[in-house]
Amino acid sequence: MKTEEPKELLIIYHSQSGNTERLAEAVERGARRVRGIEVRRLRAAKVTAHDFRTARCLVMCSPEYFGYMAGALKDLFDRTYEEVREDVSGRAYAVVICAGNDGAGALSSIERIILGYKLRRVQEPVIVRGELSAAALEQCVNLGHTLAEGMDLGIY
Ligand SMILES: Cc1cc2nc3c(=O)[nH]c(=O)nc-3n(C[C@H](O)[C@H](O)[C@H](O)COP(=O)(O)O)c2cc1C
Repeated sequence: MKTEEPKELLIIYHSQSGNTERLAEAVERGARRVRGIEVRRLRAAKVTAHDFRTARCLVMCSPEYFGYMAGALKDLFDRTYEEVREDVSGRAYAVVICAGNDGAGALSSIERIILGYKLRRVQEPVIVRGELSAAALEQCVNLGHTLAEGMDLGIY
């Protein structure tokens, strides 16, 4: 009998002063509310092509630095693109941006590159600006929960 593939949600993040990490942790908390979904949260610098390829659903969490995504996330894309792009086509993804006051540049830089991977955006991006509020964290919890539920139901 064929073994079913594990349903893995991979939360990829980078964070220098901890803000994006707290958002990524909130996504993880929400996702862990759903049993039967394997949830992993990894720093972008640690993510391998194998990690990228085997996840069924991806959440990219990045701060905005100089109007762009974090360099570590760009490095992940640079390192893995050729190796994984054919395997991940059509997979679900969502984005969380943590910015001082903008976030548009980080989001558009991620989405432009993701076009090449042909991932499928299944939730609206979450952009958090300035101080992290309880509402922002809750939005990330809800995002994680919604994604994991969708995976559990076989939608993603
Ligand atoms: C080097 C650097 C560049 C930044 N550039 C921007 C920027 O272009 N736009 C913006 O809105 N915030 C900018 N910020 C603010 C960060 O996005 C914000 O402080 C964020 O919460 C940092 O997330 P982190 O704690 O996960 O590193 C910058 C911060 C740093 C350290």
